[in-house]
Amino acid sequence: MRVLSGIQPTGRFHWGNYFGAIRQYIALQNNEQAYYFIADLHALTTIHDPNLLREYSREAAVDLLALGLDPQQATLFRQSNVPEISELTWLLMTVTQMSLLEKCHAYKDKKSKGLTADAGLFAYPVLMAADILLYDSTTVPVGSDQVQHIEVTRDIAQRFNSIYSEALTLPEAYVLEETAKIPGIDGDKMSKSYHNVIEIFLPPKQLRKKIMSIKTDSTSVKDPKDPDACSVFALYTLFSTPEQQAALAEKYRAGGMGYGEAKQLLYDASMECFGEARARREKLGADLQTVEDILQTGAHTARAKGREVLDRVRTACGLVRPLR
Ligand code: ADP
Ligand code: TRP
Repeated sequence: MRVLSGIQPTGRFHWGNYFGAIRQYIALQNNEQAYYFIADLHALTTIHDPNLLREYSREAAVDLLALGLDPQQATLFRQSNVPEISELTWLLMTVTQMSLLEKCHAYKDKKSKGLTADAGLFAYPVLMAADILLYDSTTVPVGSDQVQHIEVTRDIAQRFNSIYSEALTLPEAYVLEETAKIPGIDGDKMSKSYHNVIEIFLPPKQLRKKIMSIKTDSTSVKDPKDPDACSVFALYTLFSTPEQQAALAEKYRAGGMGYGEAKQLLYDASMECFGEARARREKLGADLQTVEDILQTGAHTARAKGREVLDRVRTACGLVRPLR
Protein backbone atom coordinates (compact mmCIF):
# COMPACT_ATOMS: atom_id res chain seq x y z
CA MET A 1 0.00 0.00 0.00
CA ARG A 2 1.33 3.42 -0.90
CA VAL A 3 -0.38 6.55 0.37
CA LEU A 4 0.19 9.64 -1.77
CA SER A 5 -1.23 13.12 -1.96
CA GLY A 6 -0.31 16.53 -3.30
CA ILE A 7 -1.38 20.00 -2.33
CA GLN A 8 -1.04 23.14 -4.44
CA PRO A 9 0.97 26.07 -3.07
CA THR A 10 -1.47 28.68 -4.33
CA GLY A 11 -1.95 30.48 -1.00
CA ARG A 12 -1.64 29.84 2.71
CA PHE A 13 -3.43 26.71 3.94
CA HIS A 14 -6.86 27.03 5.50
CA TRP A 15 -9.10 24.98 7.77
CA GLY A 16 -10.70 23.25 4.76
CA ASN A 17 -7.28 22.04 3.61
CA TYR A 18 -6.42 20.85 7.09
CA PHE A 19 -9.59 18.97 7.97
CA GLY A 20 -10.32 17.83 4.41
CA ALA A 21 -6.84 16.64 3.53
CA ILE A 22 -3.78 17.45 5.68
CA ARG A 23 -5.12 15.81 8.83
CA GLN A 24 -5.58 12.57 6.86
CA TYR A 25 -2.01 12.83 5.52
CA ILE A 26 -0.78 12.91 9.09
CA ALA A 27 -3.08 10.13 10.30
CA LEU A 28 -1.87 7.87 7.50
CA GLN A 29 1.83 8.60 7.80
CA ASN A 30 2.28 6.35 10.85
CA ASN A 31 1.36 3.02 9.42
CA GLU A 32 1.85 3.32 5.69
CA GLN A 33 4.58 4.18 3.27
CA ALA A 34 3.46 7.72 2.57
CA TYR A 35 4.53 10.26 -0.08
CA TYR A 36 3.31 13.85 0.11
CA PHE A 37 4.31 16.64 -2.23
CA ILE A 38 3.87 20.33 -2.87
CA ALA A 39 2.23 20.53 -6.28
CA ASP A 40 4.15 23.49 -7.67
CA LEU A 41 3.79 22.37 -11.31
CA HIS A 42 0.02 22.39 -10.81
CA ALA A 43 0.21 25.84 -9.22
CA LEU A 44 1.67 27.18 -12.48
CA THR A 45 -1.81 26.91 -13.97
CA THR A 46 -2.80 29.84 -11.72
CA ILE A 47 0.34 31.60 -10.43
CA HIS A 48 2.64 33.31 -12.92
CA ASP A 49 4.67 35.31 -10.41
CA PRO A 50 7.95 33.46 -9.72
CA ASN A 51 8.62 35.11 -6.36
CA LEU A 52 5.14 34.36 -5.14
CA LEU A 53 5.34 30.73 -6.24
CA ARG A 54 8.68 30.32 -4.44
CA GLU A 55 7.27 31.92 -1.31
CA TYR A 56 4.07 29.84 -1.27
CA SER A 57 6.00 26.61 -1.93
CA ARG A 58 8.30 27.30 0.99
CA GLU A 59 5.42 28.30 3.25
CA ALA A 60 3.54 25.13 2.25
CA ALA A 61 6.46 22.95 3.35
CA VAL A 62 6.82 24.82 6.64
CA ASP A 63 3.06 24.59 7.29
CA LEU A 64 2.89 20.85 6.59
CA LEU A 65 5.84 20.12 8.88
CA ALA A 66 4.45 22.39 11.60
CA LEU A 67 1.07 20.66 11.39
CA GLY A 68 2.69 17.33 12.18
CA LEU A 69 3.94 15.81 8.95
CA ASP A 70 6.97 13.87 10.14
CA PRO A 71 9.82 13.49 7.62
CA GLN A 72 11.10 10.47 9.58
CA GLN A 73 7.92 8.64 8.64
CA ALA A 74 6.68 10.22 5.42
CA THR A 75 8.48 11.42 2.32
CA LEU A 76 7.88 15.13 1.63
CA PHE A 77 9.05 16.74 -1.61
CA ARG A 78 8.36 19.34 -4.28
CA GLN A 79 6.63 17.99 -7.36
CA SER A 80 9.01 19.86 -9.71
CA ASN A 81 12.04 18.21 -8.11
CA VAL A 82 10.95 14.92 -9.70
CA PRO A 83 11.31 15.60 -13.44
CA GLU A 84 10.17 12.06 -14.24
CA ILE A 85 6.66 13.42 -13.66
CA SER A 86 6.75 15.45 -16.85
CA GLU A 87 7.84 12.49 -18.96
CA LEU A 88 5.15 10.23 -17.55
CA THR A 89 2.58 12.99 -18.17
CA TRP A 90 3.42 12.93 -21.87
CA LEU A 91 3.25 9.15 -22.08
CA LEU A 92 -0.15 9.19 -20.39
CA MET A 93 -1.35 12.04 -22.61
CA THR A 94 -0.92 9.78 -25.63
CA VAL A 95 -3.56 7.39 -24.24
CA THR A 96 -5.95 10.01 -22.80
CA GLN A 97 -9.09 10.85 -24.71
CA MET A 98 -9.99 14.52 -25.11
CA SER A 99 -13.58 13.73 -24.11
CA LEU A 100 -12.37 12.54 -20.69
CA LEU A 101 -10.61 15.86 -20.03
CA GLU A 102 -13.48 17.95 -21.39
CA LYS A 103 -15.62 16.62 -18.51
CA CYS A 104 -13.18 17.71 -15.78
CA HIS A 105 -14.46 20.49 -13.56
CA ALA A 106 -11.47 22.89 -13.46
CA TYR A 107 -11.56 23.27 -17.24
CA LYS A 108 -15.33 23.02 -17.60
CA ASP A 109 -15.97 25.71 -14.95
CA LYS A 110 -13.60 28.13 -16.61
CA LYS A 111 -15.08 27.51 -20.03
CA SER A 112 -18.65 27.89 -18.78
CA LYS A 113 -17.72 31.36 -17.48
CA GLY A 114 -16.69 32.27 -21.02
CA LEU A 115 -12.99 32.40 -20.07
CA THR A 116 -10.25 30.91 -22.21
CA ALA A 117 -8.29 28.10 -20.58
CA ASP A 118 -4.61 27.34 -21.12
CA ALA A 119 -3.64 23.90 -22.41
CA GLY A 120 -2.04 23.35 -18.99
CA LEU A 121 -5.39 23.67 -17.24
CA PHE A 122 -6.99 21.33 -19.76
CA ALA A 123 -4.24 18.72 -19.28
CA TYR A 124 -4.09 19.20 -15.49
CA PRO A 125 -5.80 15.86 -14.70
CA VAL A 126 -3.15 14.03 -16.73
CA LEU A 127 -0.39 15.66 -14.69
CA MET A 128 -2.28 14.62 -11.57
CA ALA A 129 -2.59 11.07 -12.91
CA ALA A 130 1.17 11.01 -13.45
CA ASP A 131 1.71 12.23 -9.87
CA ILE A 132 -0.23 9.28 -8.60
CA LEU A 133 0.82 6.55 -11.03
CA LEU A 134 4.56 7.32 -10.92
CA TYR A 135 4.86 5.78 -7.46
CA ASP A 136 2.44 2.84 -7.72
CA SER A 137 0.15 4.72 -5.31
CA THR A 138 -2.85 2.82 -3.98
CA THR A 139 -4.49 5.29 -1.57
CA VAL A 140 -4.97 9.00 -2.21
CA PRO A 141 -6.29 11.09 0.72
CA VAL A 142 -8.17 14.15 -0.64
CA GLY A 143 -11.29 16.25 -0.12
CA SER A 144 -14.39 15.37 -2.15
CA ASP A 145 -13.65 17.89 -4.94
CA GLN A 146 -10.66 15.80 -6.03
CA VAL A 147 -12.50 12.49 -6.36
CA GLN A 148 -13.25 13.14 -10.03
CA HIS A 149 -9.52 13.43 -10.72
CA ILE A 150 -8.81 10.08 -9.07
CA GLU A 151 -11.51 8.51 -11.26
CA VAL A 152 -9.83 10.04 -14.32
CA THR A 153 -6.50 8.64 -13.12
CA ARG A 154 -8.04 5.18 -12.93
CA ASP A 155 -9.52 5.56 -16.45
CA ILE A 156 -6.17 6.62 -17.88
CA ALA A 157 -4.32 3.79 -16.11
CA GLN A 158 -6.87 1.24 -17.28
CA ARG A 159 -6.59 2.45 -20.86
CA PHE A 160 -2.79 2.30 -20.71
CA ASN A 161 -2.91 -1.19 -19.21
CA SER A 162 -5.32 -2.42 -21.86
CA ILE A 163 -3.30 -0.98 -24.75
CA TYR A 164 0.07 -2.08 -23.40
CA SER A 165 0.93 -4.45 -20.58
CA GLU A 166 -0.41 -4.12 -17.03
CA ALA A 167 2.29 -1.62 -16.03
CA LEU A 168 0.22 0.76 -13.91
CA THR A 169 -1.31 0.34 -10.45
CA LEU A 170 -4.91 1.56 -10.01
CA PRO A 171 -5.34 3.98 -7.05
CA GLU A 172 -8.34 4.70 -4.87
CA ALA A 173 -9.46 7.97 -3.31
CA TYR A 174 -9.54 8.10 0.48
CA VAL A 175 -12.20 10.58 1.58
CA LEU A 176 -13.57 11.11 5.07
CA GLU A 177 -17.21 11.94 4.50
CA GLU A 178 -17.58 13.99 7.69
CA THR A 179 -14.85 16.44 6.68
CA ALA A 180 -15.19 16.28 2.90
CA LYS A 181 -16.73 19.76 2.63
CA ILE A 182 -15.82 22.29 5.31
CA PRO A 183 -17.87 25.51 5.09
CA GLY A 184 -16.22 28.93 4.74
CA ILE A 185 -17.13 32.19 6.47
CA ASP A 186 -20.00 32.75 4.03
CA GLY A 187 -21.44 29.25 4.48
CA ASP A 188 -20.30 28.01 1.04
CA LYS A 189 -17.52 25.44 0.72
CA MET A 190 -14.31 26.95 2.09
CA SER A 191 -11.98 27.63 -0.84
CA LYS A 192 -9.30 30.14 -1.79
CA SER A 193 -11.18 30.80 -5.00
CA TYR A 194 -14.28 31.91 -3.05
CA HIS A 195 -12.32 34.26 -0.75
CA ASN A 196 -14.07 32.77 2.28
CA VAL A 197 -11.22 30.94 3.99
CA ILE A 198 -9.91 30.94 7.53
CA GLU A 199 -6.16 30.46 7.26
CA ILE A 200 -4.64 28.14 9.84
CA PHE A 201 -1.76 30.36 10.85
CA LEU A 202 -3.37 33.80 10.82
CA PRO A 203 -2.00 35.98 13.63
CA PRO A 204 -4.40 35.73 16.63
CA LYS A 205 -5.92 39.20 16.22
CA GLN A 206 -6.69 38.67 12.54
CA LEU A 207 -7.96 35.17 13.26
CA ARG A 208 -10.38 36.52 15.82
CA LYS A 209 -11.58 39.19 13.39
CA LYS A 210 -12.08 36.56 10.67
CA ILE A 211 -14.06 34.30 13.00
CA MET A 212 -16.20 37.23 14.14
CA SER A 213 -17.02 37.87 10.46
CA ILE A 214 -18.58 34.42 9.89
CA LYS A 215 -22.01 34.96 8.38
CA THR A 216 -24.93 34.15 10.70
CA ASP A 217 -28.67 34.81 10.48
CA SER A 218 -30.39 37.76 12.14
CA THR A 219 -32.03 35.88 15.04
CA SER A 220 -31.86 38.14 18.11
CA VAL A 221 -29.85 37.19 21.20
CA LYS A 222 -32.87 36.13 23.25
CA ASP A 223 -34.37 33.82 20.62
CA PRO A 224 -33.58 30.09 20.21
CA LYS A 225 -31.22 29.23 17.36
CA ASP A 226 -30.72 26.18 15.17
CA PRO A 227 -27.16 24.79 15.55
CA ASP A 228 -27.58 22.62 12.45
CA ALA A 229 -28.16 25.65 10.23
CA CYS A 230 -25.16 27.60 11.52
CA SER A 231 -21.62 27.63 10.04
CA VAL A 232 -20.14 28.69 13.38
CA PHE A 233 -21.51 25.53 14.94
CA ALA A 234 -20.42 23.37 11.99
CA LEU A 235 -16.88 24.71 12.34
CA TYR A 236 -16.94 24.28 16.11
CA THR A 237 -17.63 20.55 15.67
CA LEU A 238 -14.20 20.23 14.03
CA PHE A 239 -12.46 21.29 17.21
CA SER A 240 -14.62 19.86 19.97
CA THR A 241 -15.70 16.64 21.67
CA PRO A 242 -19.29 15.33 21.32
CA GLU A 243 -19.96 16.53 24.90
CA GLN A 244 -18.76 20.06 24.10
CA GLN A 245 -20.89 20.04 20.94
CA ALA A 246 -23.96 18.90 22.88
CA ALA A 247 -23.39 21.68 25.44
CA LEU A 248 -23.19 24.36 22.75
CA ALA A 249 -26.18 22.93 20.85
CA GLU A 250 -28.16 23.16 24.06
CA LYS A 251 -27.23 26.85 24.43
CA TYR A 252 -28.30 27.53 20.84
CA ARG A 253 -31.69 25.91 21.39
CA ALA A 254 -32.31 27.54 24.77
CA GLY A 255 -31.99 31.11 23.44
CA GLY A 256 -30.29 33.93 25.36
CA MET A 257 -26.95 33.36 23.65
CA GLY A 258 -25.65 35.65 20.90
CA TYR A 259 -23.60 34.35 17.98
CA GLY A 260 -20.64 36.36 19.32
CA GLU A 261 -20.40 33.96 22.26
CA ALA A 262 -20.32 30.90 19.97
CA LYS A 263 -17.69 32.60 17.82
CA GLN A 264 -15.54 33.25 20.88
CA LEU A 265 -15.77 29.54 21.78
CA LEU A 266 -14.77 28.67 18.23
CA TYR A 267 -11.80 31.04 18.42
CA ASP A 268 -10.61 29.57 21.73
CA ALA A 269 -10.99 25.99 20.50
CA SER A 270 -9.10 26.68 17.27
CA MET A 271 -6.27 28.46 19.08
CA GLU A 272 -5.95 25.46 21.37
CA CYS A 273 -6.05 22.96 18.51
CA PHE A 274 -3.30 24.66 16.52
CA GLY A 275 -1.30 26.00 19.49
CA GLU A 276 1.53 23.48 19.23
CA ALA A 277 1.64 23.78 15.46
CA ARG A 278 1.99 27.56 15.78
CA ALA A 279 4.99 27.14 18.07
CA ARG A 280 6.58 24.59 15.73
CA ARG A 281 5.96 26.86 12.78
CA GLU A 282 7.81 29.71 14.41
CA LYS A 283 10.87 27.51 14.98
CA LEU A 284 10.84 26.02 11.47
CA GLY A 285 10.35 29.42 9.87
CA ALA A 286 13.68 30.43 11.39
CA ASP A 287 15.42 27.29 10.08
CA LEU A 288 14.62 27.18 6.39
CA GLN A 289 17.78 25.24 5.55
CA THR A 290 16.44 22.27 7.49
CA VAL A 291 13.17 22.54 5.59
CA GLU A 292 15.04 22.62 2.26
CA ASP A 293 17.13 19.60 3.31
CA ILE A 294 13.95 17.66 4.11
CA LEU A 295 12.53 18.49 0.66
CA GLN A 296 15.74 17.47 -1.10
CA THR A 297 15.98 14.16 0.76
CA GLY A 298 12.32 13.54 -0.02
CA ALA A 299 12.83 14.24 -3.73
CA HIS A 300 15.73 11.79 -3.78
CA THR A 301 13.60 9.01 -2.30
CA ALA A 302 10.64 9.78 -4.58
CA ARG A 303 12.84 9.87 -7.69
CA ALA A 304 14.28 6.45 -6.96
CA LYS A 305 10.79 4.95 -6.90
CA GLY A 306 9.65 7.11 -9.83
CA ARG A 307 12.49 5.96 -12.07
CA GLU A 308 11.63 2.35 -11.40
CA VAL A 309 8.01 2.84 -12.48
CA LEU A 310 8.94 5.09 -15.41
CA ASP A 311 11.35 2.46 -16.73
CA ARG A 312 8.54 -0.07 -16.58
CA VAL A 313 6.21 2.28 -18.47
CA ARG A 314 8.85 3.18 -21.08
CA THR A 315 9.52 -0.48 -21.74
CA ALA A 316 5.79 -1.19 -22.02
CA CYS A 317 5.46 1.54 -24.69
CA GLY A 318 8.46 0.35 -26.71
CA LEU A 319 10.84 3.14 -25.69
CA VAL A 320 14.45 2.31 -24.94
CA ARG A 321 15.70 3.07 -21.43
CA PRO A 322 18.12 6.00 -21.32
CA LEU A 323 21.65 5.49 -20.05
CA ARG A 324 22.08 6.68 -16.47
P1 ADP B 1 -8.76 25.49 -2.52
O1 ADP B 1 -10.17 25.09 -2.89
O2 ADP B 1 -8.77 26.42 -1.37
O3 ADP B 1 -7.98 26.02 -3.70
P2 ADP B 1 -7.26 23.09 -2.89
O4 ADP B 1 -8.10 22.81 -4.11
O5 ADP B 1 -5.85 23.49 -3.10
O6 ADP B 1 -8.03 24.18 -2.02
O7 ADP B 1 -7.35 21.81 -1.95
C1 ADP B 1 -6.27 21.14 -1.34
C2 ADP B 1 -6.83 19.93 -0.60
O8 ADP B 1 -7.72 20.35 0.44
C3 ADP B 1 -7.64 19.00 -1.50
O9 ADP B 1 -7.44 17.66 -1.14
C4 ADP B 1 -9.06 19.45 -1.25
O10 ADP B 1 -9.99 18.43 -1.52
C5 ADP B 1 -9.01 19.80 0.24
N1 ADP B 1 -10.01 20.85 0.53
C6 ADP B 1 -9.99 22.13 0.10
N2 ADP B 1 -11.04 22.83 0.56
C7 ADP B 1 -11.78 21.95 1.30
C8 ADP B 1 -13.00 22.05 2.04
N3 ADP B 1 -13.67 23.20 2.13
N4 ADP B 1 -13.45 20.95 2.66
C9 ADP B 1 -12.77 19.77 2.60
N5 ADP B 1 -11.60 19.62 1.92
C10 ADP B 1 -11.11 20.68 1.27
N1 TRP C 1 -5.17 18.71 -7.77
C1 TRP C 1 -5.02 18.65 -6.34
C2 TRP C 1 -5.71 19.85 -5.70
O1 TRP C 1 -5.93 20.84 -6.36
C3 TRP C 1 -3.57 18.63 -5.95
C4 TRP C 1 -2.87 17.44 -6.49
C5 TRP C 1 -1.99 17.43 -7.52
C6 TRP C 1 -3.02 16.10 -6.03
N2 TRP C 1 -1.54 16.17 -7.76
C7 TRP C 1 -2.14 15.31 -6.86
C8 TRP C 1 -3.77 15.48 -5.03
C9 TRP C 1 -2.06 13.94 -6.71
C10 TRP C 1 -3.67 14.10 -4.88
C11 TRP C 1 -2.83 13.33 -5.72
O2 TRP C 1 -6.02 19.81 -4.54
